[in-house]
Order: sequence, then structure tokens, then C-alpha cells
Amino acid sequence: MIFDTHAHYDDEQFDEDRKELLSSMHEGGVDTIVNVAADVASWEDIRKLVTEYPFVYGAAGVHPDNVGELNEENFVRLEEILNKEKFVAVGEIGLDYYWDKESHEEQKYWFIRQLDLAEKLDLPVIIHSREAAADTMEIMKNYGQKLSGVIHCYSYSVEQAREYVKMGFYIGIGGVVTFKNAKKLKEVVEEISLENLVLETDCPYLAPVPNRGKRNSSLNLIYVAQEIADIKGISVEEVINKTEENARKLYRL
Ligand code: NI
Repeated sequence: MIFDTHAHYDDEQFDEDRKELLSSMHEGGVDTIVNVAADVASWEDIRKLVTEYPFVYGAAGVHPDNVGELNEENFVRLEEILNKEKFVAVGEIGLDYYWDKESHEEQKYWFIRQLDLAEKLDLPVIIHSREAAADTMEIMKNYGQKLSGVIHCYSYSVEQAREYVKMGFYIGIGGVVTFKNAKKLKEVVEEISLENLVLETDCPYLAPVPNRGKRNSSLNLIYVAQEIADIKGISVEEVINKTEENARKLYRL
């Protein structure tokens, strides 16, 4: 069944119908979801989600847009929450030079601190990197050699994807791959072995065609799986089964 490696069901866009929606997942072919943190406030919401839903697991960390929230005090809390049951990764963490909400120095500093924490706790990492390819690669080469994880919402070249795969990372593929203009990402899917790909929504964002622009959910992953199957010339079942197997290895579930 479908494994969503990256979702944000703590987002307020799900406040109205979170329970109904999550209760419909199994019937919709989705059997595991990792809910990823973006800011400090989300940690506690995610802890509640993983307690309430047996098929939901959590990741905790702070997104590069929000690293201004981090300080020594809540960094200690981050370690505490990551030690709780059903927290399976540190994320999402990284660099975002597109929105550029925090200085590059600040982003790099907290990215490295969170990578070090993942190494200390022996947890995989969920990397967010946007328009920061060179700096992300440099930091991963210097601080990520002992780590495993996923490059989420992958948006760079085939060459970089190969390099991350060589380092033991998975490439996260979501709704963008169904967009007509996503030539580069379709090429990545074509060139990188299914062995190294995982499915992700990043919901409520980035819904695939035919639901582009609407609120996204894990139920839409079937369109992403179908697109990968079409690109690779294999069956959608093979994509779903293999990416689930990969996701279980990634998060050690
Ligand atoms: Ni995300």
C-alpha cells in the first residue's frame, strides 16, 4: 500500500475535517504516513497525531524558514520530543534561499546543529533544500556522511540526485512530477532507480494533476505513483510496493 513519507496534517487547513480525512486513508490505499514538523509549535501537535492514529509517525525539527524560532532552550526540547515513541526522523531541516526568510548564516548554523543531533540520536534526516543546491551539498558532505535520509521535494539535477543516492539518501517525489513543465524532475525519475525513490505529498501543498491548486492529501499519491510508472514503463503496483519498501527502510519501520 501507499506510504506517504512527508505530510503536514497538523496544518490548520485540515482543522475542519482532519479526523474524517485520516480515517479514510486505509480505504484510499494509504497505510502509513510520516507527519513532518515545520516549526516549534508543530512538535506538540504532531505528538498528539501520532498518539491518536496508529498508522501516523512523526518527524521533528525546524524548517529553514523558521530557524529564527530556535534557541538553546527549545533545542533541548527538540531532543526530548525526538526521544518519544513513534518519532522516526529529524525534519524538515535544510536551506531555503528562495523564500530567504532567515540569513544564510543562521540557516546554515541551525541546519548543521540539527544534523549533529540526528547523528547523536541515530535518526534519519528529512532535507528541505530550495535554490541552495551548492551549499546544501557542501554541508551534507561535511556533516552528513554518517547520516541517512531523504532529499524531500527534490528539485535539482540528475547529477546531484546520483550523488545523494551514492551517499545513501532517498529522493522524495511528489505532486510536482505530474506538472507539464516539470521536465527536470521527470528526467530524475527516469534516470534514478526505483530502488532510491519514495513517495511524498508535502500536503496540504503541491497537489498533483488533476487536483493541482487544490488542498493536497495522501489520497492523491496514486496520481504521483501512476506518473512514475508511466515514465519508467512499469506497473503502478510495482511503484507502490517498491516505494513502500524503500520508505520502511528509510524510516526503519
Ligand atoms: Ni514539507
